[in-house]
Parts: sequence; structure tokens; C-alpha cells
Amino acid sequence: MLKSFLEGLDGLTLECEARRGQACSLKDLEALRVEFLGRKGKLAGAMVALAQMGPEDKPAAGKKANEVKTALTALLESRQAELEAESAQGALAGFDPSLPGRRPAPGSLHPVTLAMQEICEVLTGLGFEVVAGPEVENDWNNFEALNMPPDHPARDMQDTLYVSENIVLRTHTSPLQVRTMMSRKPPVAVIAPGKVYRRDSDITHTPMFHQIEALLVDTNVSMADLRGTLTAFVRQLFSPDTKVRFRPSFFPFTEPSAELDISCVLCGGEGHVAGAPCRVCKRTGWVEIGGCGMVDPNVFRQVGYDPETVTGFAFGLGVERVAMLKYGIGDLRMFFENDVRFLEQFS
Ligand code: DAH
Repeated sequence: MLKSFLEGLDGLTLECEARRGQACSLKDLEALRVEFLGRKGKLAGAMVALAQMGPEDKPAAGKKANEVKTALTALLESRQAELEAESAQGALAGFDPSLPGRRPAPGSLHPVTLAMQEICEVLTGLGFEVVAGPEVENDWNNFEALNMPPDHPARDMQDTLYVSENIVLRTHTSPLQVRTMMSRKPPVAVIAPGKVYRRDSDITHTPMFHQIEALLVDTNVSMADLRGTLTAFVRQLFSPDTKVRFRPSFFPFTEPSAELDISCVLCGGEGHVAGAPCRVCKRTGWVEIGGCGMVDPNVFRQVGYDPETVTGFAFGLGVERVAMLKYGIGDLRMFFENDVRFLEQFS
């Protein structure tokens, strides 16, 4: 009985040796382990005979059973190591470690952001401080305090997006004039860059665009200060020979008011380039970049400043407009299409 028991166990080892190589996955291998070493497996089956042996045979049989268990375990474990090594190599198949790495493509700043940054840089250089405010604004800051009472016809100049009866998406950055003066005493010299919104959309208008507002209030501020500041500003922003022109206009919050033109950046104010009419200024020699004027006394009264002691100027610039002129972009829509071929030219 002992002899056949021992032979049976040797047979198990041989069979396992023969079959381990056929296990081609960890799943196959686990099935094989259960078959040989599981609770109801082949080794456990052989052990039934051990229990029936007499005391003279048991020690030898028990010793052999232990050896076979160790041998089977070792056979299966070594196959597991082989399979794991193979699958790691499979993952590396086709991988060439000598290839150069792929660099992350560097992004670039949007031209509107660039223009905004440059404008802010020049104006802070002239002594203005940057302030910010909410894009969702109340009626009073956006209109009423700026001398546009309800039903004032000037409200029609701006196609307003209403959030509710008294809350709007700011139609311009001018409410920052109000917010600044409500929270500070004169003198103030601030600029407010940001997004503004209007119910307007065609090839030359987008529902969202960017402005920069400037406000300077002190004693004895005059229109000459406004003109001098703007001249210094556009000369730094565009070129040292850029000229400024004021065109009489109307804004409810400034008096007098003017449209702000600069000499054309393409033709230098000539109106033509190499004999052909200038396509940027349409032959006029001038291009508009914003509005400006002297702060209306009514605005001072609304914010609690005394128009008898202080005066001030304000201006508002269209940032997309500036960016188009600075970078020679002919179509406003390019700013909003996010075509990488366009954007990456600004890196
Ligand atoms: N807020 C005006 C607009 O959006 C632009 C403007 C005009 C701003 C005159 C000013 C100003 O500060 O003085 O159309």
C-alpha cells in the first residue's frame, strides 16, 4: 500500500510538471492550482489513503506527502513568475526606449489677453491702479449713477442683457467709475479691465467683448490732461509718432464727450499705402479706439463727490479693437473661434 501511495504521489509531481507549461494565463494557472492543491484537489484525494495506513507506514507516507506539496507549489509559482514576466514584456512590445520623448505643446496667451496686458502695463506705468468689479451688475451702477435714469434715451445706445429687472450683465466697464468713487475719496487714478456684454451679434459685434476703463479725479484736472495722458499712452502702446484726435460726441456720464481716434497704424495717417487706399482706416487716416470725456458733475453728485472742488476725466477703450490694430487682425470673429492655427501665432 505504501509503495503504490508513494508512486501515486510521484505521478502527481510528474503530471504537474508536464502540464504547467500549458497554463498560458494566470487564470489557467489558478485552475491548475485548484486541480492539484485545492481542498478537493488531487493531492487532497491521495491523502485519504494516508489516514488508513498503519503506524509503520505513516511517517514515510506523511513525509512524502509534504515533499510533494512543496514541489507542486514550487512548480506552480515558478510558472506564475514566467507568465508575469511575459506579460510585462508584451506591454513593452513595440516600445522603442531610444525614441525622443514627446514634449507637451506650450500654450500661448490669447491676443486679447496680450493686448489687455500691454494696455494695463502702459497705464500702470503712468500711475493708474488696476481695479476690478463684477460682470453681473446692478442697474444703478451700470446706468443710473452714470447719469442714465430709467427711460433715459441713452440706454438705447447699449443693447442690455437683463438678469432681472434691476440686475444686468454690465454693458460697459464704466460702473467701475461708480464703484471706485463710492468707496474712495479723491484723488483717484484707476483703470478697470474686463468683459462686457451686449445683446448684439454680427460680423463686427460679439455679445461679449472687452473694455478698459480709466478714471482720474483730482483738483484742476482738465481736458488738456486727458489729451496729454492719451497721447503718452498711445505713443507707448503703438508707436512714438501715433497722433490722437478727439471727435465731438455724446456720453451721458461725460461732458464734454469725445470719440477717441488715433492716426491709422497701417498707413500712418496718410490714408493710402503704396498708392492704394488704406484698408484699415478706409482712406480717412484715423481709426477709433474708444470714448472719453470729462466726468459729468451729475455723476460726481451721485457718488458724493463735490463737483465744485474736483474735476476728472474718463476714457473707455475697446480691447478687441486695440488688438486688431496692434496685431493686424482683420476679422473680429477670429478672437472667438479659438482656431489653434490663429492662436499659436501669438506664442
Ligand atoms: N462706456 C462707454 C461705452 O461703452 C465708453 C466710454 C465713453 C467710456 C466715454 C468712458 C468715457 O469712460 O468717458 O460705450
